[in-house]
Parts: sequence; C-alpha cells; structure tokens
Amino acid sequence: MPKKVKIKLARPFLPLITEKKRIKFFYGGRGGGKSYAFADALLMLGLRQKLLIACVREIQESIKDSVHRLLSERIAFYDLKEFEVKESEIINRVNKTRFIFKGLRNQDAQKIKSMEGVDIVWIEEAQTISKTSWEVLAPTIRKNGSEIWISMNRLMENDPLWVILAAHPDERTLVKKVNYDDNPFCSEELKMQALACQEKDIEAYAHIWLGEPLSQAQNALIDRNKIRAAMKRHVQNPSGPLVIGLDVARFGDDATVFCLRCGQKCLGFEVYRKKSVVEVASLAMNMIEEKKPVRLFLDVGGVGGGVYDILKAGGFSRVVRGINFGQRALSDERYANRRAEMWDKMRDWFDHEVDLKEDEKLFDELAAACKKYDFKGRLILEEKEEIKKRIGRSTDMADALALTFAENVAIPQEKGLKSENKTVTIEEMFEESGAGVFDAW
Ligand SMILES: Nc1ncnc2c1ncn2[C@@H]1O[C@H](COP(=O)(O)OP(=O)(O)OP(=O)(O)O)[C@@H](O)[C@H]1O
Ligand SMILES: [Mg+2]
Repeated sequence: MPKKVKIKLARPFLPLITEKKRIKFFYGGRGGGKSYAFADALLMLGLRQKLLIACVREIQESIKDSVHRLLSERIAFYDLKEFEVKESEIINRVNKTRFIFKGLRNQDAQKIKSMEGVDIVWIEEAQTISKTSWEVLAPTIRKNGSEIWISMNRLMENDPLWVILAAHPDERTLVKKVNYDDNPFCSEELKMQALACQEKDIEAYAHIWLGEPLSQAQNALIDRNKIRAAMKRHVQNPSGPLVIGLDVARFGDDATVFCLRCGQKCLGFEVYRKKSVVEVASLAMNMIEEKKPVRLFLDVGGVGGGVYDILKAGGFSRVVRGINFGQRALSDERYANRRAEMWDKMRDWFDHEVDLKEDEKLFDELAAACKKYDFKGRLILEEKEEIKKRIGRSTDMADALALTFAENVAIPQEKGLKSENKTVTIEEMFEESGAGVFDAW
C-alpha cells in the first residue's frame, strides 16, 4: 500500500480534483500558483489510480521546455518514492501512471495517435497555443471521462484558446481566475515585485500580475469595425484600375494567394497550395492574359523571386512588379519597411466606402496585425511569425490584398487621359470628380 502523502492544494485549485469537468481552465497573472497546483494535483491523482497524463505546450524543443522539471521537483519535495523520473517520462512504478511531454506544433500523425489513451492533458502556457494546434489536439483526447486542464496567462483579447473555450464557456467547462493575491504560497519577494510594478506602471501591472489581456484592439493597425463594415457593404460598379496582389507561399504550410482589387472593391481571392514556382508563374501568366490587370505586384522576398524571374523572361515586365516586404519603404521617413507601408495604405483604404467579401479567416488576418514604432518613430508592423503564433497561420490573404497597395497605379494612356504618367492615390480614387474618369474604362 502506498503511504499517505499530504499534498496540499491552495483552495482555488480544489476543483481540479473535486469537480468532474471536461475542461478546467485556470487563468491569471504571474505567481498565481497555477503551475505548482497543476503539478501537485496531477501527482495526487496519479498516486491514487493508473492514469496516462500528457503535459503539452505549443513548442517543446527539448524536455527542458516542459513541466518535467517542475514535476520532478515536486516529487522530490514530497518524497514520492513511487515515481521514477526518466529522461523523457515520469512513471509510477506501483500503479503504472505515466506522464508524457509533448509540443503540439508540427505534430506528426504517429505522435498524435500516442495521445489517444490520455486521461488528462495539461496544456501549460496555453496563451501561446494556436487554433490549429487545438484543432489537432481536441479530438485526440477522446477517452471516456478524459479531461483537459489549461493554465494560461492571458496575452491578448483574442488568444485562440480563450476565444474558443473560455469567453463563452459551456456547462462542461470550468473557468477560474487566480492571481498572486489568491495564492497562499506566494512569497514575500514576489508580492514586493508585484507592488513595485503597480506603483511604476499600472497597465503593465494589470497585464502581468492581474492577468488582464493586452488590448489587441487598441494596438491593431486596422480597426476591426471598419473591416466588418467593408464585409457587409456591396459596391456595384467599382471604379479604378484592376490590380492584382500575389503572395507566394514561403513554407509548406503557407498558401499562394492571388487577390484581385478594382478600386474600392476587392473582387476576390484565389488560393493555391503546394504549387511549384513554375506552376505559380503559369497561373499568373494566365491571369494576366485573361483579366488584363494594370499591375500585378508580387512578393519576391522568398521563393516569389523565382516566379518573378519567369514572368519577366516571359515578357510580362510591363505589368509585373516585384516587391520585397523587408525593403526600404517609398516613404522611408514614415515607414520602417515596405510591408508596413503597404499595410498602412490598406488601413487607409478601409477608411473609405470599400467592399470586401465576408470571410472569417480574412477578418482574423486583417484584424490581427498590431502596430509598433521603431526607434525613429516610423510605423513597423508586428512580425509575421508573432501573428502566426496567435492566429495559427500566416496572413497570406491579407498580405495579398496589401500587395495591391504597393504603388499608386498609373492609368493606361490609350484611353485618352490627358495627363501623362498620371498615378492614382487612394485619396484620388475616391474623389467625386476623379471617379468618373475611372468609370470610363
Ligand atoms: N504548493 C506550493 N508550495 C510552495 N510554494 C508554492 C506552491 N504553489 C505556489 N508556490 C509559490 O508560488 C510561486 C508562483 O507559483 P506558480 O509558478 O505556480 O505560479 P503561476 O500561476 O504558474 O504563475 P507564473 O508561471 O506566471 O509565474 C512559485 O514560484 C512558488 O514560490
Ligand atoms: Mg506558471
């Protein structure tokens, strides 16, 4: 018989062991005691009965990134001799309870299968879990009575797991906030750090110590209400030249996207996956011949460079322009790079009566990008990788639309326009007098 051990859980965490819920979602700021309590509660349950427990996080490059160490320390602290701590697993020799540790990003099918018998999964640092990872994990935890435990320090208002599980919890979900002042084990040192932060920066205190999300909406480049309005609007006869943006997939999981825009109306997107450089170039050629855009702007930062070369060699240089997102902006004093400049022009577009198809993925991509400023005070966008972490994929569609704003587009002269080399700014496009000019062709 295993000896009786006295593992003490702080009161807010008692539901971990007393309540039967599919999802137990604990969130709050630093020092709330979440990690310790989850570890202790799992050890307690793993002593009582045989369980398979998976401890997962978004990225686990080595076992050091996992809660393996915390569990080992708690085992040593309580002197739980039943548990054998192996390099990548922890096993109860008596009842065969097993702890396994996994990263969810880029899971292969075999690894996912090994989780089908899991009784409890603990998702630590759940604010970094992408929607894609959740969609892979959730159906894998399918054993009768299995539970999903979540510990999270909220990052943004739209952290994927917050939105999916906690914002409107169902009856099978327990959601509980726990902060350092609820943690009876919180050290005096941590409390002092919290108070010092409170005195210095009340917003940082609310985020770090009280678990409030950073307001994504405040930081977002494009006002989400304006995106929604554009998605509800229908513009019948858009004026302006047809421009195409082409964002070429950089990695296997990204998509190649064509976006067609005619003035204030985005006509639509064409999305392709796993296409070679030659295939993308051929799609682009067909599209140019069929739709006759005034410009096709394409991202040449990654493999798009190859597509650009083929198009140029094919005699399409009059229409095609290569754009490198990282290169110097045209208005170098206002923008840190081309990417920020194009996105800001797109933001400007949303200030007008524009029309965009209703699409939740597109909405998420457009609303996700946060603005920042570099040391010269120029606009710089949140890094692509950061956005990808939050929304679970790259902003391919939004980038394709942004590319249509790469340069002001010259109006073809054969239609009898007086001014040579006239270019169209977004402002001009919406001027009453100018609109007629574009209507003409
Ligand atoms: N059962 C416990 N026994 C002893 N100390 C504890 C216990 N639970 C929490 N603590 C103390 O409280 C501190 C904060 O706990 P923990 O790391 O679990 O918080 P958290 O909510 O995971 O927050 P974060 O990881 O953001 O700091 C720990 O470093 C530890 O000093
Ligand atoms: Mg923690």
